[in-house]
Order: sequence, then structure tokens, then C-alpha cells
Amino acid sequence: MRVLITAGPTREPIDPVRFISNHSSGKMGYALAKSAVAMGHDVILVSGPVTLSPPEQAELVRVQTAAEMTDAVLSRYDNADIIIMAAAVADYRPKDHLSQKLKKSDGDLTLVLERTTDILAELGTRKRADQCLVGFAAETENLRENAQGKLTRKNLDWIVANRVGQADRGFAADTNAATVISRRGDVIDLPLTRKTDLAREILKIIMSVAP
Ligand code: CTP
Repeated sequence: MRVLITAGPTREPIDPVRFISNHSSGKMGYALAKSAVAMGHDVILVSGPVTLSPPEQAELVRVQTAAEMTDAVLSRYDNADIIIMAAAVADYRPKDHLSQKLKKSDGDLTLVLERTTDILAELGTRKRADQCLVGFAAETENLRENAQGKLTRKNLDWIVANRVGQADRGFAADTNAATVISRRGDVIDLPLTRKTDLAREILKIIMSVAP
């Protein structure tokens, strides 16, 4: 299988020295890429800025912004059998990207943000019947309901929902728990474990169970 995986945060520049980003470490996406390589698949890893080493056998595409990730993913989508969007793509970016460093003044500063492309939603509109599209949902509340809503809205085959805002799971942690939900309504709870083990379980499910 040709597996396209995204990982890490994006950085949305304010000026040449500042950006808006999030706490994504890329660990879950990199663990998925490593597991997919170990299972013998062809893997393309589109990665935002992280400090992890990628699996040697994967093709690595480094990006910074949501716009760069959009281009990198859309141009490789048609050749992919399985697409897993594990990246924490910024939903908004500063409307004006200043070419010179912003100088402070005494008063408050208001930044105007504009929406980025929802890559996963765009992939959902282009999905072929032979492609499997997997999204992630990071939630602090109403995990299952919110994730199921995203699965339907974005035309996904699977969504991996996990809780964020707790020290032992989500973003920077080495461990995570997840609920994997299929288009058909299958709900599979995966208990707290190392992200590397969780990645293998997620891949096994999406490759063996019809969504
Ligand atoms: N995603 C994307 N492009 C974006 C934002 C998110 O492809 N611009 C993908 C993520 O990679 C992830 C899923 O969409 O697979 C997350 O869905 P999203 O609706 O963005 O959820 P949240 O980021 O949790 O945002 P919110 O709950 O505010 O809707």
C-alpha cells in the first residue's frame, strides 16, 4: 500500500521572527509512519517542524505552514491508497504576513487571523472509492460526539479520537489512548499505551476492518 501520513504542527508567520503554532510534537504521526514502514508499506511522511528522526525508508517532505502542507498533500493524494492526517494543522493564520519585524508600541495589539484550508475536508470531497481517508480529532470534551461529527462532515472512512489536556496522553506525551470510529459506526476503544504500540493497533484496524 502507498500510505501518506501527515505529522506535527504547522507554523503560521506573523513576521520574520514570530509565528502562531500549537503543542503538537509529531510523535503520533511519526509512530504511524514507522509502523507502516515496518509493515512493508511505501510511506510518504509530510511533516511540520518537529525534532524527531523520521524512519529512513519513508520519503520525508518537510513543510512549515498550513498552505505548504496543503500543497504537499494535495499533489500526492491521487497516488495514495491510505491517507492519515495526524498533523495538527493551524485552523487560522495571520492575515498579514509582515516582511519586517513588528515593532512594539505602548497600546494593545490586535492580530487579524484568517482561515486556512481544511486539508482533510478537501481530501474528503476528492476521495475515490478505492482510497481510505483517516482523520484525527483532539478533543477536551464530548469525545465521541465531536469525532463522529467530523467523520461525517469531512467524508472520512475512519477517525481516531483522543483526549487532549491531560499529561499522560495527547500532544507531547509518549503515551496515548484513542477511540477509533468507522464510517459504518464501529467504535473501537484502544486503552492507554505507548504511541508506538497504539500506532500499530490503529494501522491494523484500518487495514483489516472494512470501514
Ligand atoms: N485538519 C486539516 N486541515 C486543517 C485543520 C485540521 O486537515 N486546516 C485535520 C487534522 O489533521 C485532523 C482533523 O482535521 O485530522 C482535525 O479536525 P478539526 O475539525 O480541525 O478538529 P480540531 O483541530 O480539533 O478543531 P475544532 O475542534 O475546533 O473543529
